[in-house]
Amino acid sequence: MHALRGVDAVFRKGEFTAVMGPSGSGKSTFLHCAAGLERPDSGAVLTQGRDLVRLPERELTRLRARTFGFVFQSFNLLPFLTAGENITLGPRLAGLRPDPVWRDGLVRALGLTERLDHRPAELSGGQRQRVAVARALVHRPCVLFADEPTGNLDSRSSARVLDALRRTVSEHGQTVVMVTHDPVGAARADRVLFLRDGTLGEELTAPDPAAVLDRVGHWGDL
Ligand SMILES: Nc1ncnc2c1ncn2[C@@H]1O[C@H](COP(=O)(O)OP(=O)(O)OP(=O)(O)O)[C@@H](O)[C@H]1O
Ligand SMILES: [Mg+2]
Repeated sequence: MHALRGVDAVFRKGEFTAVMGPSGSGKSTFLHCAAGLERPDSGAVLTQGRDLVRLPERELTRLRARTFGFVFQSFNLLPFLTAGENITLGPRLAGLRPDPVWRDGLVRALGLTERLDHRPAELSGGQRQRVAVARALVHRPCVLFADEPTGNLDSRSSARVLDALRRTVSEHGQTVVMVTHDPVGAARADRVLFLRDGTLGEELTAPDPAAVLDRVGHWGDL
C-alpha cells in the first residue's frame, strides 16, 4: 500500500499553497517528503538544484535547518524554555545567528512582544502557535511548511495565525505550504491542491471559501 503515488508538484517562490484532502489521504506524508523529514521510496524532491532524497543524512539535516521552517499542529514547543528562547533555539543549535531586526519585527507582527518571557504553559493555544510560527520563520527559510497549524485553535486564534502566514507571503515574499481541513483557511492561500488516496487531483487557483467548500463537500468525511 502506498501513502503517496505519482505525486508531482511545484512550489513557486512567494506562493502560498494550501493542501487539502480527507483524513489518511497522505497530506502529512506529502509535507514531510517535501520538507525532507521523510524519504520517499522513489522519486525526487528538488530544491536549489539538489535532490533531498539522495542527500546523506547529515547534509539533509543541515539543509533542512537552513532552508525550511516547519509548524506542527501540536506546537511542539519546549516547555522549560520561554517563548523567546523557543523562537531562537533552532538557529542557535544550527550555529546560525538570526538577524535581530528581522526577529524583532517578526515578534511584533505576531503580537508576541509582551509574551517573550512566558513559558508555553502560560500562553494560550493561539499564542503558542504564533510562537511556533515565529520559530519557523526566524531564520528566514526558503519555504515554510505548516501541517494543520490551526487544527487545535478556536476561530479567532486561527484567524490570527492565518493572517500571519498570509502577511509573510504578501509582504515578504515567503513561500508557504500549509495543510488544512478548513475551507476558510485554505481560501487565504493563492491555490489549493487536493489529495485523495495519495494522489493529487486538480488544483484551485485564487480560491474563495465557497469554491473550496464545494470541492471538499464531495468527500463527505471531513
Ligand atoms: N510511517 C508510515 N508508515 C506506513 N504508513 C503510514 C506512515 N505514515 C502514514 N501512513 C499511512 O499513510 C496514509 C496517509 O497518512 P497521512 O498521515 O499522510 O494522512 P493525512 O492526510 O495527513 O491524514 P490526517 O488528515 O488524518 O492528518 C495513511 O493511510 C496512514 O495510515
Ligand atoms: Mg496529517
